[in-house]
Amino acid sequence: MQVKSKSVVVTGATSGIGFSVCELLLKNRFRVIGVGRSKENCEAARERLIEKYPEGEIVFFYGDMVHQQEVFRVASEIRDYLRKSSGDELHALINNAGCVRSWYMTSNEGYEHQFALNHLAGFILTHELLPCLIRAKGRILFTSSASHKMMRMRWKDLMFEKGYNPLLAYKQSKLCNMLFAYSLNEMYRDKGIAAYGVDPGLVNTSIGNKETGFIVNLVWSIRRRFGVSPDEPAKTYLMLCTVETPPNELYFKFLKPARYSSQVNKENADRLFAISEQLCNIRYER
Ligand SMILES: NC(=O)c1ccc[n+]([C@@H]2O[C@H](COP(=O)([O-])OP(=O)(O)OC[C@H]3O[C@@H](n4cnc5c(N)ncnc54)[C@H](OP(=O)(O)O)[C@@H]3O)[C@@H](O)[C@H]2O)c1
Repeated sequence: MQVKSKSVVVTGATSGIGFSVCELLLKNRFRVIGVGRSKENCEAARERLIEKYPEGEIVFFYGDMVHQQEVFRVASEIRDYLRKSSGDELHALINNAGCVRSWYMTSNEGYEHQFALNHLAGFILTHELLPCLIRAKGRILFTSSASHKMMRMRWKDLMFEKGYNPLLAYKQSKLCNMLFAYSLNEMYRDKGIAAYGVDPGLVNTSIGNKETGFIVNLVWSIRRRFGVSPDEPAKTYLMLCTVETPPNELYFKFLKPARYSSQVNKENADRLFAISEQLCNIRYER
C-alpha cells in the first residue's frame, strides 16, 4: 500500500535556502507546495526540481507577498489545493520568504518592505492556513537569523518611517519571526501545533543582491562568499519536519537548539501579535 505524502508549504522556494529545503523535502517524499514571487522564477524552480526528482509531487503558487492582497490570494489558492490533494491537512508551513532593502520602500498598504514581507506575510499566511495545520497537528517554521539578538522592538516607529536604517529594519523583522513563533506556541501548542525559529547561519545566497543599492550589493557579494551552502541549513528544516515528537525548544541552528534573545518574551510577543492583527485586519482564534 502506498503511504500518503505529507504536504509542506515553503515560501521563498525559488532560490537560496527555500529551494534547498524543497529539494530535501522532495527527496524525503513530502508533497511540496512552493511559493515564489514571480511566475517565471516559479516555473524555473519547478523545472529544476522535477529534473532532479521526476517522481516528486511539487506545485508552485506565485505572488508578490510584500502586498497583503497577494498573500490572501495565494493562501486561498493553497487552501483549494490542499482540499483537493491532502484532505485539507498541512503538515508544515515554512515561512522563509525574505528580503533586504537599501532604502525605504512600502507595500500597497504603506508598510515598509522588510516588515511587510519578512513578518506580516507570514503572519497572514499562517492565519489562513492554520485550520489545515491544526488538523494535521502541524509545524510552523520561520527563517529567523542570529541578527535578531542584536535588536529591540522599535515600538514607537515599527516601520522606521523616521530615519530609515535598513539593517535595523532587517534585524527587527527577524526578531518579529521569533516573537511570532513564541506566540504560536503559547496559543496553539495544546492543539498540537509546534512553531520554531531557525537560524540558518550565514548562507551563500543572493538575498543582498536583489532590489538593493550599490553598497548593500557590494558588501553582500563579498560577505556571502563566507557563507555555507543553503543545503546546510536545509537539514534543520527537514529534521523539524520529520522528527516524531516535536521538540519543546523554540530556536534551532544546524540541527541543535540554540540560545535566543531575552527580547523574545511574552510581553513583546503579545504586543507584536496584537499590532500585527490590526495591521493585517485579521483576528486569530483564541
Ligand atoms: N542568506 C543568509 O545568510 C541568511 C541568514 C539569516 C536569515 N536568512 C533568511 O533566509 C530567508 C531566505 O533568504 P535567502 O538567503 O535564501 O535568499 P534568497 O535566495 O533571495 O531567497 C529569498 C526567497 O524569497 C522570495 N521573495 C523575495 N521577495 C519576495 C516577495 N516580494 N514575494 C514573494 N517571495 C519573495 C525570493 O524569490 P525570488 O527568487 O523571485 O527572488 C526567494 O525565493 C530570508 O527570510 C532571510 O532573511 C538568510
